[in-house]
Amino acid sequence: LSSIRVDVSGVEPGTQITAFWLGKPVFIRRRTEKEIEEANAVDVSSLPDPDARNANIEAGAPAIDTNRALKMSDEDTSEEWLVMMGVCTHLGCVPLGDGAGEFGGWFCPCHGSHYDTAGRIRKGPAPENLPVPVAAFDGTDTIVLG
Ligand code: FES
Repeated sequence: LSSIRVDVSGVEPGTQITAFWLGKPVFIRRRTEKEIEEANAVDVSSLPDPDARNANIEAGAPAIDTNRALKMSDEDTSEEWLVMMGVCTHLGCVPLGDGAGEFGGWFCPCHGSHYDTAGRIRKGPAPENLPVPVAAFDGTDTIVLG
């Protein structure tokens, strides 16, 4: 698997960047407290897809917010960083971000899929949450994808 390094030192809370890895967009968002609170307020059993879909943790783990967020270290409990493929799980369009859609996260305009602030599908035809790829922090300023 080829890996790339992404400098995230300039990403402020409430903003995001898009990296390109293996020819696909990867959304890297530094979330606000409000976004994190909203993500944690959701009952996972009510989600269309209750699976975390996170390649970095055990398969089948529940889609609670902490299982979606990327930690800087084992001590990092902030849940600030969200890294996920920018590819709609319906038919592969690139969702719009920065608070788009009815759940304040991402919205896929192709057929109307709404993702929440943790990138979990909440409404529309997409069957699964936006997948979290293999990713890790190297220090505090760099995310390694792959
Ligand atoms: Fe996103 Fe169909 S491709 S809703």
